[in-house]
Amino acid sequence: MGLSNQMEPEQFEIMDRVEQNHWWYQAVRHLLVQCWQQRDLQLPGQPRVLDAGCGTGGNLQFFQEQLKPSYLGGFDLSPLALQAARIKCPTADIYASDICHPELHRASLNLIFCCDVIYVPGLAAARSGLEQLVQALEPGGQFILHLPAYRWLTSAHDRAVHTRERYVLGQLRQLMRDLNLECQRASYRLCGLLPLIVMKRLPSILRLNAGNLNNGRPNSGRTNSGSSTGRTSDDLQLPAPWLNRWLLRCMQWENQLIARGTRLPWGSSIIGIGRKPQ
Ligand SMILES: C[S@@+](CC[C@H](N)C(=O)[O-])C[C@H]1O[C@@H](n2cnc3c(N)ncnc32)[C@H](O)[C@@H]1O
Repeated sequence: MGLSNQMEPEQFEIMDRVEQNHWWYQAVRHLLVQCWQQRDLQLPGQPRVLDAGCGTGGNLQFFQEQLKPSYLGGFDLSPLALQAARIKCPTADIYASDICHPELHRASLNLIFCCDVIYVPGLAAARSGLEQLVQALEPGGQFILHLPAYRWLTSAHDRAVHTRERYVLGQLRQLMRDLNLECQRASYRLCGLLPLIVMKRLPSILRLNAGNLNNGRPNSGRTNSGSSTGRTSDDLQLPAPWLNRWLLRCMQWENQLIARGTRLPWGSSIIGIGRKPQ
């Protein structure tokens, strides 16, 4: 897969800069901690962990500090992401690989995390790679998948990060079944904030729809990843500190519900936690 299918370079720079403090990233990590505190989702001590599509390394750093793993690996397709990840997490095994044909440096992993990656190549292309990843899981091991939700929510941000697909919860649950994973949690996320997200994205959603109609193409929900110019998004910029805190607070409340097993009925993201049968 070439770089034309990759995020815009400035998005990596923004992600690298904001991923420690931005409410969105902090909320994902808070949710993981909440989940691992549940009796049925606990991880073994010093687990072997792989971050598939590790981006600029913020989550690797989090795993290092939170889980004290005996093995920590991360791969990504983007040299820009890998460069930043190696600086953030120098002790991790960070390497170039494609989720569609993943190279594996360890078998018997306890945790595989794949956060907002397969929407880039698309599920059909990534499916056999996901199967290979599941094979590398230890029985009882956890596979955590995070995906963007709803095709109709496609906005300028999706153009900037080259989104090919957005999903509904049923697709995630079906994917877990196809991968022979026991689904332990599956829920929409950013449920309470969805109206605000829709309002913020609405101008760009309408613009994209109008553009597609003007081109004589209905909106298929797929973004065109051909040109790499003129695609920017401020979705990842840090909001004012008070707003950042408030948004994180909302998410922390919602995270506790998801960790305890509540399935939230809508949201702009989806999380699924699957376990490889013993
Ligand atoms: C939105 S970022 C998410 C990064 C990280 N997982 C996180 O949650 O912060 C998407 C990442 O997926 C990577 N990616 C896209 N297609 C990929 C592929 N086929 N194989 C591996 N990584 C890929 C991109 O380079 C980018 O770093």
